[in-house]
Amino acid sequence: MTHGIPYPSDSEFLKYQRLIEESTGIFLPPHKKTLLNNRLSKRLVERSCKNFSEYFSLISDSGESHELEMALELITTNETYFFREPKHFDFLNKVLQQRQGDTKTFRVWCAAASTGEEPYTIAMILSESCSSPWELVASDVNEKVLEHAYKAIYRDDRLSGVSPAFMDKYFLHGIGKYQSHVRITPELRYRVKFLKVNLMHDFTGMGKFDAIFIRNVMIYFERETQIKVMQRISKCIKPNGYVFVGHSESLHGVDKEFRMRCPAVYQYGV
Ligand SMILES: C[S@@+](CC[C@H](N)C(=O)[O-])C[C@H]1O[C@@H](n2cnc3c(N)ncnc32)[C@H](O)[C@@H]1O
Repeated sequence: MTHGIPYPSDSEFLKYQRLIEESTGIFLPPHKKTLLNNRLSKRLVERSCKNFSEYFSLISDSGESHELEMALELITTNETYFFREPKHFDFLNKVLQQRQGDTKTFRVWCAAASTGEEPYTIAMILSESCSSPWELVASDVNEKVLEHAYKAIYRDDRLSGVSPAFMDKYFLHGIGKYQSHVRITPELRYRVKFLKVNLMHDFTGMGKFDAIFIRNVMIYFERETQIKVMQRISKCIKPNGYVFVGHSESLHGVDKEFRMRCPAVYQYGV
């Protein structure tokens, strides 16, 4: 029991597992039953549900789509930080150096942007090293994290990956109740276009990108789902464009058009 709510039974867990996978692609293996219990029990109490079956009926009701969103937000993992997997940003830097003189707009999509640390890291690199105009789209399925990303306010103990020079240039220090917080400068903030995009749905209308960051999200998908997502990604990447995945993810066997250029970086169609 957590918050007086009985632990989900196997059959209750199965119903949630199916709904979560249909809605987000995220596959919750059976050992994640405790995670489901821990993350949702409090919400069940808030919505006066006595058990997981009652709450399931609520989130399955088409008039309660907001509640389903909230449940999915509670279940998904949003961990992220500035300059996570820093070799990727060295690689991006090198790509930008090599295209010096190219005047075409360089388009980047950060496809599981979470609370914004990843797209703002990319924006800093683009701002430093991209000699042509550039565009950066950042998306996530979770509206709450997107709101956080849009506000761009972070605790100052979460910035260990950021160099002092970038701290000075791209962060403002808070005062008063924001004393231990920083905010991304407006100049950088306004360069990022935030969108809600569910990777389970068709996103091919977003146009073609030179680089797509889709890191630390496919790890939650089953292989079949990963393949479908990457098929759609392949329609959004320009020839010779780069796809960055998390270091514990791999596109091996997903699509032979993706060639590995360095760990967790793939180039499309060369
Ligand atoms: C662990 S975070 C990774 C954040 C960032 N990419 C990084 O590597 O630091 C995973 C993110 O994927 C998002 N996500 C999960 N399922 C998704 C889906 N179907 N479509 C889009 N985003 C999704 C979650 O909301 C969460 O913000």
